[in-house]
Amino acid sequence: MMTRIAIYPGSFDPLTRGHEDIIRRSLAFADRVIVAVAVNSSKSPLFTVEERVDLLEAVFAGVEGVEIKSFSGLLAEFAQVHGASLVIRGLRAVSDFEYEFQMALMNRKLHSELETVFLTPDLNLTFLSSSLVREVASLGGDVGEFVHPKVEKALREKLSR
Ligand code: PNS
Repeated sequence: MMTRIAIYPGSFDPLTRGHEDIIRRSLAFADRVIVAVAVNSSKSPLFTVEERVDLLEAVFAGVEGVEIKSFSGLLAEFAQVHGASLVIRGLRAVSDFEYEFQMALMNRKLHSELETVFLTPDLNLTFLSSSLVREVASLGGDVGEFVHPKVEKALREKLSR
C-alpha cells in the first residue's frame, strides 16, 4: 500500500496549541506528517530554527508518524524531495484565506501533483497565532493556555534575556 506523506509547513515561532491540534488532525488521513520548519529569510524570528525544531521534537517525542525537519528554499521542492503528496495548512478565519489560496495555487504551479489541504483547528483555538503569543508573552501576559508547557518555559527563558 502507498504511504501517504503530508507536509505541514510553517514558521512555528513558536509552536502553539493550534499547530499541535492541526498536526494531530492530519494524522487521521496521513501515514506520515513531516512538520517543516521554515528557515524564513524575510522574517526575523524570536527563536532560531534549531530552537523551533527542538521544541517541536520535544512536544511530539514518541508520537508515531510525526517527523520534524527544517527547510529553506521552495516548499514545493521540499515536498517533492520527501515524496509528499499533501501540504497541510490551518485556516482560522476568512482573513487567512486570500494568502493561503494564492500559496496553494502557486505551489500547484510549481508541483502539479501537490494538493493543499486546509484544516480548521478546534473552535477554542481559532483566535490563536504565534505572533499574538509572542506579543502577550513579551508583555508579561500568561500564555500557559495557548502553548505547551515546554514552549512556555522556552518563551520565559528567551524573554528574560
Ligand atoms: O507559518 P507561516 O509563516 O504562515 O508559514 C509560511 C510558509 C513557511 C509556509 C511559506 O512562507 C513557505 O512556504 N515558504 C517557503 C518558500 C516558498 O515555497 N515560497 C512560495 C510559496 S507559494
